[in-house]
Amino acid sequence: MTIYDHVLTENDFVHQNDLRYPFEERGLQFGDGIYEVIRVYGGSYYLIDEHVERLYRSAEAVKIEVPYKKEQMYDQLDELLNKNKITGDAKVYLQITRGSAPRDHAFPTNTDANLYAYVKDLPRATDKMLEGVETITQHDVRWDWCYIKSLNLLPNVLAKQAAAEKGCYEAVLHKDGEVTECSSSNVYLVKDEKVYTHPAKKNILHGCVRIRIEEFCKQEGIPFIEESFCLEDFQYADEVFLTSSTSEVMPILKVDELTIGEGKPGGITRKLQELYEEDAGIPADQSIFKRNLKAQ
Ligand code: PDD
Repeated sequence: MTIYDHVLTENDFVHQNDLRYPFEERGLQFGDGIYEVIRVYGGSYYLIDEHVERLYRSAEAVKIEVPYKKEQMYDQLDELLNKNKITGDAKVYLQITRGSAPRDHAFPTNTDANLYAYVKDLPRATDKMLEGVETITQHDVRWDWCYIKSLNLLPNVLAKQAAAEKGCYEAVLHKDGEVTECSSSNVYLVKDEKVYTHPAKKNILHGCVRIRIEEFCKQEGIPFIEESFCLEDFQYADEVFLTSSTSEVMPILKVDELTIGEGKPGGITRKLQELYEEDAGIPADQSIFKRNLKAQ
């Protein structure tokens, strides 16, 4: 998948081959930084305000000074798409670390943050969105501040790898049986036409897509209940799905050995997929529903 040449840094744009960091870089050595993954459809950002707000919230929480003021950040992110002539579906990965400095756990003085943001092609995972995916469960061993989109992703990496080794798409995380989220997405349970998900407390990432799911539910009169549920509740679920900027609204058909509901994507999940496509401005000829009809 193409990574486009022009990379935004803390100063300006550089060619991807010219991006160099010293050994002693705090993101590399401590995971001392934060990041965002922003979806792009047809050359335009989706949920950009939500991502920018969360970026600044994360930065403030870990006391990193963002190199750009918010308005400048918007301009630079637009410029990133323009310079690279992006017209299709892509994602922007942006990270900010505390900077380059001799290794010492405490914050360095007089050190500026390092920032880079690049664009990579990302076609939509339409087959999976249509068919649904399988998951495993993993103990959530992360710290208490998962609302910060921190670079420290080792527990998430290990959980996702465990899922990959079982041929699964995601790992559903739980703390002593209480479901929090997935390794890189939020998770929801549907029962009796109500959507349940873990409250947006400090121990989960407050997903940008999750914000939209809440709005879609309100709009459709579907109760959106921020109440945590347990692993045992999956037995009684009618539907389960996950969301993220890269997965959109993804039906979950299995959690470990358990088949959810009838083992196929449910009606509320489908409705939310439809609303997502509408909100993201997906052209009708690229809709998963159109593909579905074609396949039949
Ligand atoms: N992950 N929870 C976790 C732990 C995540 O890493 C993500 C996003 C989400 C969903 O957030 P959003 O709706 O804002 O994408 C929930 C991104 C895609 C990643 O790390 O690649």
